[in-house]
Amino acid sequence: MRSLLFIPGDSPKKLDKGLGSGADALLLDLEDSISPQRKTEARETTLAFLKQAVPVKERPRIYVRINGFATGLTDADLDVIVAGSPDGIMFPKAEGGAAVTHCDAKITAREAMHGLPDGSLDIIAIATETAQALFLAGTYGGSSKRLKGLTWGAEDLSVELGAEANRDKDGTFLAPYQLARSLCLAGAGAAQVQAIDTVYVDFRNETGFRRECEEAKRDGFTGKMLIHPAQVAICNEVFTPKPEAIERAKAVVAAFAADPGAGTVGIGGVMYDRPHLERARQLLARVKV
Ligand code: COA
Ligand code: MG
Repeated sequence: MRSLLFIPGDSPKKLDKGLGSGADALLLDLEDSISPQRKTEARETTLAFLKQAVPVKERPRIYVRINGFATGLTDADLDVIVAGSPDGIMFPKAEGGAAVTHCDAKITAREAMHGLPDGSLDIIAIATETAQALFLAGTYGGSSKRLKGLTWGAEDLSVELGAEANRDKDGTFLAPYQLARSLCLAGAGAAQVQAIDTVYVDFRNETGFRRECEEAKRDGFTGKMLIHPAQVAICNEVFTPKPEAIERAKAVVAAFAADPGAGTVGIGGVMYDRPHLERARQLLARVKV
C-alpha cells in the first residue's frame, strides 16, 4: 500500500469522495478527527459506509482507525465496526507488541461474534505516539499474525513530551521526531512488516509533500498516510517503483539465478552481492501487488 488516505469517519461526503480518490487504502477515522461528542455518530456513519463499500469489487483497501486503549473507547468502537468487515484496524497509541497481541484478542472475539473468518482483519499499529512506545518499538515481531504495518506519529508524541514544536521553520522534523521515525523503520524491519510514513499536514504545499515522500521512499518506507485527496497522485507516483529500478532488480535476480553459487556478480561494471539480491527481490514482490 503506497497511499493511505485518512477520512473523518463522520463525514459521508468525504467517505464517498475517498472511494474515487485513487488511494490504495482508506483510513476511516474514529480517533483524533472526531470530537468526543460525535464518537457514537461517527461509528454508525462508518459502519453504514463499510456495509456499502466493502462488497464493491474494485475498491481501495479499507481500514478503520479506532480509539486507543487509554480512552476506554476501544471496545465500543470494535463492537460496532467489525460488523462491517473492514480489511483491518489502525491501532493508535500502541505500546509495543504486547498491546498488539491484546488488540488482536479483542478483534478475534468480535470476528467470532459476527461470523467472520478468524484472522480476516489486519492491524496497522501507530508505534510512536507515546514516550513509552518509543522504548518498545523493537517488540512487535511475533505479536500477531494480523500485524501488516507500522507507522508513526509526531503530533501526540509532541504533546506528551511537552514540546513547543515538532518541525523547524522549514518543515523538517526536529530530533525527537526523527528518532521516532527511525524507530518506526527499525521496528517494522525487525517485525518484517511494512513501514508507513506519517502525515504531511500542510496539504497545499506540493513541493514539501513530494520531498517528504521521496525521503520516506529513500529510507525504506513503502507508503505514506495522507490527509487530503490532492496528495494521492504524488504519493502513488513516488512510491511506485520506476521502470529503471524494476529492470535493474530483474537483472540482479537473473544474474544470481544464472550462477546460483555466486556470492557476488558484476553487472554493467557494478558489483552486486547478497543484500542487493534481497533488495531486488523485495522490490519485485512489491511490484506484483
Ligand atoms: N478524504 C476525502 N475527501 C476529502 C478529504 C479527505 N481526507 N479532505 C478533503 N476532501 C474533499 C472535500 O470534502 C472537498 O470536497 P468537494 O470538492 O466535493 O467539496 C474536496 O476534497 C476539497 O477539499 P478542500 O476544500 O481542499 O479541503 P477542506 O477544507 O474541505 O478539508 C481538511 C480540509 C483538513 C479538514 C480535510 O482534508 C480532512 O478532513 N482531512 C482528513 C483529516 C483526518 O482524517 N485527520 C486524522 C488523521 S491526522
Ligand atoms: Mg493522534
